[in-house]
Amino acid sequence: MSNASSNIASSSSREAETCACAEQTRRALLLGALATTACLGCSAVARAGEDAPGSDERPQKGDLLVFSEGDSEGKLIKAADLRLGGPPVHAWPQDPKSSVVRSASRLNELLIIKLDPAELDEQTKARAVDGILAYSAICAHAGCPVTAWVKSDVGEKDVFKCMCHNSEYDPREGAQVVFGPAPRRLAALPLALADGSLSVAGGFIGKVGGAQPG
Ligand code: FES
Repeated sequence: MSNASSNIASSSSREAETCACAEQTRRALLLGALATTACLGCSAVARAGEDAPGSDERPQKGDLLVFSEGDSEGKLIKAADLRLGGPPVHAWPQDPKSSVVRSASRLNELLIIKLDPAELDEQTKARAVDGILAYSAICAHAGCPVTAWVKSDVGEKDVFKCMCHNSEYDPREGAQVVFGPAPRRLAALPLALADGSLSVAGGFIGKVGGAQPG
């Protein structure tokens, strides 16, 4: 190859390298910008996802109760919203001052049910208001949510049932276990009633949550 041809060839090769380099730089800048945008998006999501103060605290005296599911989710539960004899309503406690719903811990979910006071044993009756009772919605066996209100496998009455391993709890008798592997009753939450509005009268009675991992 002559010197002239060789110079032309190396000049073309340098131009090609320069082009490739410029392209790589352009791509790197673009990716950097995209990464920065994505990162900003992430931190915005993280900020939006932060739990409000108090939202993971256990129910406290004076808390109100709001629906935790369904069309009325987030609305206050009144005594008139409950049907005598069940099914139970699923609820979260709500701080009356800040309006923060204590839904950041699943251990705070509640079952609220209205029963005939004549059906309740003495201890349960003493804790009920107008036949209305509140219990933890978390199964004492392995911590699944207690979702069903069905006829018991061992009797004629409707009971709370956890569909994970079929534990059953009778709310008329302090949610004691009537069937299945749960080792203890559901925790109970004392209630108060004023002008048709329900509120929490004290902390949980009994341990909340599952005794063993699911
Ligand atoms: S977790 Fe409820 S019966 Fe096992």
